[in-house]
This record gives sequence, structure tokens and C-alpha cells, in this order.
Amino acid sequence: MKQQASYNRIDNDFLNDVIEGLSQNPKTLKPKYFYDNRGAQLFTEICTTPEYYPTRTEIKILNQNAEDIASQIGDNTALIEYGSGALEKIKILLNFLNEPVGLIPVDISEDQLFASAKNLENLYPDLEILPVAADFTKPIPIPGFSHPPKKHVAFFPGSTIGNFEPDLAIQFLEGVTKTIGVDGLLLIGFDLKKDIETLLAAYDDQRGITSSFNKNLLSRINDELGGNFNLDTFEHEARYNENKGRIEMHLKSTTEQTVSINKELFEFLEGETIHTENCYKFTKESFTAMSSKAGLYPVKTWTDDQNLFAVMLLRTTSNL
Ligand code: AVI
Repeated sequence: MKQQASYNRIDNDFLNDVIEGLSQNPKTLKPKYFYDNRGAQLFTEICTTPEYYPTRTEIKILNQNAEDIASQIGDNTALIEYGSGALEKIKILLNFLNEPVGLIPVDISEDQLFASAKNLENLYPDLEILPVAADFTKPIPIPGFSHPPKKHVAFFPGSTIGNFEPDLAIQFLEGVTKTIGVDGLLLIGFDLKKDIETLLAAYDDQRGITSSFNKNLLSRINDELGGNFNLDTFEHEARYNENKGRIEMHLKSTTEQTVSINKELFEFLEGETIHTENCYKFTKESFTAMSSKAGLYPVKTWTDDQNLFAVMLLRTTSNL
């Protein structure tokens, strides 16, 4: 059932973040608010577009190297997947892992989390699955399993790490280091730097799914916070910021206008944008340098033959 716009039911964090972000110059909105149920569905659809290479490339890397990855991880492990979505990628590992004790899928999109966890439970009845509906950018309590694991293995696929600002990425990785503890492992996917055309196309697909995903933020503000954005007067825009090594997503106002949200007014100039997301791109070296600041050291890296994407296994204790 669609949530009604009602002041009693307003999510205050969402409202405060929106007011704060739109009061800044340049205007911003936090990308975590993309993922309501419709946003999660649109993201799943983005992953199937011909232009969005990261998902299919990462899946190919995982499929081609699953046996090797599983043997590097070892047996009787507890898995924690951050931003677990449809729980498709973990299946590739589960088919090769030796007697995993359990899985904690963590995701902010509650409906999808519980539906996917239920599906996985049917496929792997021996696996203890303990879903946690939470914003994993904040510290989360990790439930214990009935059988103690030999080690904890965090799984963070999809290059979601690229959506964090560098200092927050390090902070998040430090949290992972603490959660997985001594002898813990992190298997993480990240997108590699490449030609700008390929990058821009991935974030501006022909069918306009990424545009709908971006504009869904404005629909959410209208539906949940009593906003009056006219979606026809905003355009999706993807840019590559060479200096920062990141794709930026923006929503550009095509006209001068005033938007009201819960009695607050926001002025837009023609051509002014709301910066909605950053997607950082890495080299193996830049990723290694960043993760070592959080106490994580590379064990092995797998890539595809075009060097589009990388999957890296890291451990909490350095070999040096
Ligand atoms: C979730 N995240 C890794 C995606 C990305 O590529 O940064 C989000 C996305 N935004 C637009 N397209 C995909």
C-alpha cells in the first residue's frame, strides 16, 4: 500500500536531510533515499540494462572464480552481506563454500530483504539466515549464530563502496574490520577506472531507467514529505568528474521555479542542479591504499578480461 502524505507519518530523518540538503549551495540529496521499494526495483532494472556493465561483469567474475574464492575463504564461516538486495550474488558463493554456518543479509529495503531471505532459506535449508533491516552506513548490531563460526566474512559486492565519500568509505571499512575481527575477511566488488563514454552510458541508459531511478527521489519527497516537485521540470544528468575520479548524478531544473516541501520553500534557477549521487571509480592500487587505512590488506584480486570491474578479498591482519 502506498504511504499517504501526512504530517503525522513523516520520517523526520528523511525530512531533516532533505531540508538540509536543499538548503545548501550546491543543492544535494543523500543517495540512500533512492532505495524505497520502487527505487530498489528500479535499481534491479538498471542492472539489466545493456549499458550498466558492473552487475553482469561482477557476476561473471564471481562465476568464473567461485571455486578459487571459496577455497581462499575456507570452511565454517559466517557471512555478512551488506546491501544484500535480491541476494543473487551470494548464491554463487554458497554453491561452492564448504559448510558455511550462516548468513546475515543487511539491507535498508525491508520488503525486498525479507522476501529474498525467505527465498534463500528455501534453497539452502541448512543455512541459518538472520536478516537485519538497517542502514549499514551506521554501526549495526550483528546477531549471533547457533553454531559458532570459524571466522566472519563480510561480502560487499556491487561497487556500493564507490557511493561513499572517501573518508566515509574508510570509516565504513573500519566498521567492517571491527565486525569481522581477527582473521576476518572481506570480499568486495569495486568498479575500475575506464574510458569516459562507457562510464557515462552506464549512468544514462537509453531506456531511461536510471533517469526514473534518479527522479524517484523527487516522487518520494512529494509522496512522503508533502513536496510539490513537478517531475517534468527536472532532467536526469550524469557527469564524469575527472579530478575526483567519479561519476556524478544530478537532477537539473529546466526552469526557474519554487518548490515547497512541508511548508519550506526552495528556489531553483534554470539549469541549477541537485547533486544526488557520486560513484567513485578505482584502480587496484587506489583501492588497496584506501582499504589499508582501515586495517584491511589484499589477499587476492579477480578481474574480467576487459578490466572493467574488480573483486578483491582482503583480510584484517597484514601478512607483512
Ligand atoms: C548501488 N551503486 C553501486 C550504483 C552505482 O553504480 O554506483 C548506484 C547507481 N546509480 C545509478 N546507477 C546505479
